[in-house]
Amino acid sequence: MNHDVIIRIEGLKKEYVLGSENIVRALAGVDLTITSGSYVAIMGPSGSGKSTMLNLLGCLDRPTAGRYFLGEEDVSTMSDDDLSRARGKRIGFIFQSYNLIPQLTVIENIQVPLFYQGESLAESYDRCVELAKLVGLADRLEHRPMQLSGGQQQRVAIARSLANNPLMILADEPTGNLDSKTGAEVLEMIDRLNEGGKTIVLVTHDEKVAKRAHRVLHMKDGLIDREVLQRTVPGGAKRQSNSGHFDSTVADSDTLQTLTPPTRAPGH
Ligand SMILES: Nc1ncnc2c1ncn2[C@@H]1O[C@H](COP(=O)(O)OP(=O)(O)O)[C@@H](O)[C@H]1O
Ligand SMILES: [Mg+2]
Repeated sequence: MNHDVIIRIEGLKKEYVLGSENIVRALAGVDLTITSGSYVAIMGPSGSGKSTMLNLLGCLDRPTAGRYFLGEEDVSTMSDDDLSRARGKRIGFIFQSYNLIPQLTVIENIQVPLFYQGESLAESYDRCVELAKLVGLADRLEHRPMQLSGGQQQRVAIARSLANNPLMILADEPTGNLDSKTGAEVLEMIDRLNEGGKTIVLVTHDEKVAKRAHRVLHMKDGLIDREVLQRTVPGGAKRQSNSGHFDSTVADSDTLQTLTPPTRAPGH
C-alpha cells in the first residue's frame, strides 16, 4: 500500500455571507494532510464545520481562501467543469440520508455516477451488477429505494460510491439513520473498503464509530482543535500525525475480509 499524500490543505477558509453585517466563518483556516489509504474520522459539535469540510474535500464546493491539493492537482481554483471532473474521477460519497433517486431502480442508482461521466447504461451494467453483488443486493436490482430497508438503501449508496472506482470515499454520518446492528454492518463494509486501499474520511458524532479510524480530527469553531492518532495505517503512516496522542491498540482487523471492488474495464 502506498502512503502518498492524497489531500493537502493549507489555510482553508469558507465564509458564508448572509448580509453586510453577517458573515459566518464555517472554516477558519484549516491545515491538513491525509495520506492515501488512511481512515480519518471527523468529530465535533454541531456547527463546528464538519459538513463544510467534507463538502470542500469532496469538491462539491470551493473555499473562500486557502489551497486544496487533491493528489497533484490544485483544486481550490478550478473551474466548475474541472472540479466536477476531479470529483467524478476520484471521489465517492455516502450520505446519512442515502440520497438515492426514488424513481430509479437499485441498479440504475448505482449506474448514476458513470452515466454522468458519459458511460451508457449498457456499458456500465455488468460492472454495476458486480457492485450490487459486492454489497449483497444482487437479488434486488429492480427494486426501488422505497421497497428497501434503510440498511439496504445505504448499501446501494455504498455500491454507487464505488462505481467510478474512486481513490477516496467521503461519508457524512453514514450510520446516523440506521439501527445499531445495521449500522455495524455498514461500518464493517467501510472498514473492508479501507483495507482494500480506499482512503476514507467519515464524519460522525459517535465515539464508537470514530474508534474504527486511524485518526480522529476534533473540530471546533471551524478549526481542527485536536487530533488523536489511534492506530497506524498498515505499512506505517505514523509520520502523518503532527500532533496528538498515539494509542497503539489496533481494532480486530484480521477478522475482516478485504473488500476489493471490481476494476473497470480498460478504455472506460
Ligand atoms: N450554506 C450555508 N449558508 C450559511 N451558513 C452556513 C451554510 N452552511 C453552513 N453554514 C454555517 O457554517 C457553520 C458550519 O456548518 P456545518 O459545516 O454544517 O457544521 P457541522 O456539519 O459541523 O454541524 C454553521 O454555523 C452553519 O450554520
Ligand atoms: Mg453536518
